[in-house]
Amino acid sequence: MTTASAAGKIILLGEHAVVYGRPAIAAPVSDVRAAVEIKTLPIGEGIIIEACDLDRSFRLDESYETDDALPLQTTVRNTLQALAIPAETQNLRLIVRSAVPIARGMGSGTAVATAIVRALAQHLGQHLTARAVSDLVYQTELILHGTPSGIDNTVVAFEQPVYFVKGQQADIFWVGRPITFLIADTGIPSKTRDTVHDVRQRWLADRAEYEAIFDRIGAVVNDAKEALAAGDALMLGRCMDENHRLLCEIGVSCAELDRLVESAKSAGASGAKLSGGGRGGCMIALVDEASRDRVAAALMFAGAHNVMVTTLR
Ligand code: PMV
Repeated sequence: MTTASAAGKIILLGEHAVVYGRPAIAAPVSDVRAAVEIKTLPIGEGIIIEACDLDRSFRLDESYETDDALPLQTTVRNTLQALAIPAETQNLRLIVRSAVPIARGMGSGTAVATAIVRALAQHLGQHLTARAVSDLVYQTELILHGTPSGIDNTVVAFEQPVYFVKGQQADIFWVGRPITFLIADTGIPSKTRDTVHDVRQRWLADRAEYEAIFDRIGAVVNDAKEALAAGDALMLGRCMDENHRLLCEIGVSCAELDRLVESAKSAGASGAKLSGGGRGGCMIALVDEASRDRVAAALMFAGAHNVMVTTLR
């Protein structure tokens, strides 16, 4: 039996503006993971993918009406092809379990695909570099999202913070000292596609104003990258606050997110903002040892569905 796992992710800064060519920063959430277990089956059984969270099993060689099977099957097929192993020679059961919440901007599909690639390579005794894993998962992202920027597969495969500009090779970097974030889930599924569409309508109606806001977001992301590299939590917190304010200006926050952001700040977070598409999903708060428990309690009191913690090292 083989097991492998992969982290979830959050966007730290720069969401939406990244669609218009400005930089964004994403980070892995190493404590919230998807895991895949592989067991060898008797000859003739073929390959079976058991998606525990969906309570479904899919055969590699069958087609299904639901959308759930294709990303899983594609990941398995592409990985076997990259490892130069014919699928028909294998008899395997892949058991997929994920703690990454679905549709909250935390990269649940990416984490599952990355864990599948890692588990298969390991089970078949081969090594794939993080870059090769990332490239394979990007092929699955094409099915999951249509036009993925590539930030999710990179941040999850390298499990390091990533500074990303659309169309460019992502820049992986290290933080100056450990930085802890709380991630609070509003419990509202976030439809990134909808918010991205709405921002586009607004941008089309007033390009000059929106380009200026995106420029300001881009500048904040660059300041935040320096703050992360230097381990400067005060500066990073200020950047997050400013980024949230600018995201409110482009209309992608909502009452629930704003309430969580305000309560985190009142309880002592150094910075707080929505993360990802907005109008639901998650928000993030920058905390330290002293404020962590108080901010987590305040977030739950303010209506968070769940509060997770992650430390970047
Ligand atoms: O909700 P998420 O984590 O998938 O983030 C979306 C980020 C956006 O900038 C809003 C969209 C995009 O494609 O970059």
